[in-house]
Amino acid sequence: MSDLQHLLGYREPIFNAPMAGAAGGALAAAVSQAGGVGMIGVSGSPKTEWIKEQVGHVADLETPWGVGFMAWSLEADLSPLESFLEFSPSLVSLSFGDVTRSAALAHEAGVLTAMQIGNAAELERAMEDDIDIIARGGEGGGHGRNESATPPLLQLATAQHTKPVVAAGGIGTAHGVAAALTAGAQAAWVGTRFLSASESLGHENFKSAVRQAGMDDTTYTRAFDIAQQLAWPAEFGGRALRNEFSETHEDLDSWEATPELRDEMLQARAEARANMAPVYAGQAVQFVQAPQTAAEVVTELAGFRQILRDTASRFA
Ligand SMILES: Cc1cc2nc3c(=O)[nH]c(=O)nc-3n(C[C@H](O)[C@H](O)[C@H](O)COP(=O)(O)O)c2cc1C
Repeated sequence: MSDLQHLLGYREPIFNAPMAGAAGGALAAAVSQAGGVGMIGVSGSPKTEWIKEQVGHVADLETPWGVGFMAWSLEADLSPLESFLEFSPSLVSLSFGDVTRSAALAHEAGVLTAMQIGNAAELERAMEDDIDIIARGGEGGGHGRNESATPPLLQLATAQHTKPVVAAGGIGTAHGVAAALTAGAQAAWVGTRFLSASESLGHENFKSAVRQAGMDDTTYTRAFDIAQQLAWPAEFGGRALRNEFSETHEDLDSWEATPELRDEMLQARAEARANMAPVYAGQAVQFVQAPQTAAEVVTELAGFRQILRDTASRFA
């Protein structure tokens, strides 16, 4: 049993990534009940009713669950973290921004705290603090850095051996999980592969786009954030499906972000038009093919055990 497994009490070393707009309480509960760690993704400052509804799915579980925040948005308002801490999550993830105040608050509440790191400098900072590490490569879906792929970052992080490391970015199959564990990760943090799960909050149009896309169909861009005039720090672009909008505006600059463009993007999101709206997904989108439940995805990924046994006997 790994340190993290001992601390959190999961059966399968598989965490669903906290994906705002997709990973709500239903997905987190399904992953947690299937033996993994279910994570709820929080965007901005959600309404109290939304928080209660999501927590309602997980609060009574006897299996571990957690919640993930965008650190830059907590810098302005810590109240979403305060609200979730009242429900005693097993894990809080704080990613993409300054975590000083938010990590202090989570630690005060006695909750295990982790952050996604995307380069060597971020790894160094996290090593100094009482924060566990999720090594996240740029092939991953959604926001993050695009500076290192998962394998080199993971090898660097696990070489330090002083903290548990979870691997994220591009893990979409049992072989991917086996590779991450072999490289020293204690668990896999999987986002894209859960996007089309029946429990995911995503619109069916987006789920269908994800199922049809392949590995070459993603792009890393800030265009969607700039168009919507979102306050994402510039170092965190996002990996999304290439679509008409990204093809036309790949290098959109902030001076080109007009109110009209913003309205157009908000409208496309409201109408779930996958050709214009951002459909965040990573290169592991290749492995999302059929509609599945989250439990089916966990069971499939748990096939890593047989792969590790086969690999060991092949090279013994
Ligand atoms: C649709 C989507 C939304 C995401 N939203 C969040 C989020 O709200 N908070 C967060 O910390 N990470 C978020 N992420 C990033 C994931 O935590 C994780 O880094 C990524 O999914 C891992 O790579 P993979 O998609 O290849 O599995 C999101 C990812 C996706 C695909």
